[in-house]
Amino acid sequence: MSTEPLVGLDLLGVGHSYRDTRVLDQIDLSIAPGEFVTFLGPSGVGKSTLLRILAGLEEPTEGRVQPTSDRRVVSRMMFQEDRLLPWRTVLDNTALGTRGRKGEAATLLSEVGLAGRENDWPSELSGGQRQRVALARALLHRPDVLLLDEPFGALDAITRVTMQQLLERMLAEHPRTVLLVTHDVEEALVLSDRVLLLTERGITRELRIDQPRPRHRGDSRLAEWKEEFLDGLLEADRALHS
Ligand SMILES: Nc1ncnc2c1ncn2[C@@H]1O[C@H](COP(=O)(O)OP(=O)(O)OP(=O)(O)O)[C@@H](O)[C@H]1O
Ligand SMILES: [Mg+2]
Repeated sequence: MSTEPLVGLDLLGVGHSYRDTRVLDQIDLSIAPGEFVTFLGPSGVGKSTLLRILAGLEEPTEGRVQPTSDRRVVSRMMFQEDRLLPWRTVLDNTALGTRGRKGEAATLLSEVGLAGRENDWPSELSGGQRQRVALARALLHRPDVLLLDEPFGALDAITRVTMQQLLERMLAEHPRTVLLVTHDVEEALVLSDRVLLLTERGITRELRIDQPRPRHRGDSRLAEWKEEFLDGLLEADRALHS
């Protein structure tokens, strides 16, 4: 679809405060073009805030985010809720804001497994199908950076795995720089090139995963890492909420 080179992001001393509450402090991080980076961290630590800053939706109160390219960088967010407009069809929801690129929207819908559902209303779809529409809609904008804030958090366990596999296939077809926030450690380990643990002390753990994809959920190394990250998360949660 896009022939533009992939774009990375450099975070330089990024910090953020809401009034008197300090949420993020001195985050330095380089995200490579085309890298899939996942943030794990306790609730309230500032993961969504960081994604909004990376999407350019919020100005950090300190530091800055510098793309690795001079051209205008396009970001798209996907959330736990699908944010579809109930009065528009699946096709119109997908093509929303693209000045009528309905042909391409229909192709993407078929790639996410929704061929033949173009004229349905969002209310006629399951939760997983609605998130498929949200993914197609995000990709139609050919974002340089795709930001995913717990996109599968509201889905049942099986649908969640199906969606993870779909995301992996879609990214193989449409490579993007991806930043994911999730509470699901296994999801992080299966999908990412790099997993970061965000705590109130900043990024305290970093793991690069160079195992080939698709990855086996039962892989013993993944199981070990899962245990480690769960311990780290519990510890960070205790520290944040004590
Ligand atoms: N617009 C806002 N105004 C004031 N405080 C905010 C605002 N948005 C977030 N916060 C506060 O900043 C902190 C971090 O919020 P954020 O939503 O980034 O956390 P999170 O890590 O995404 O949590 P969760 O895992 O529950 O989604 C929280 O204490 C929250 O109450
Ligand atoms: Mg959040």
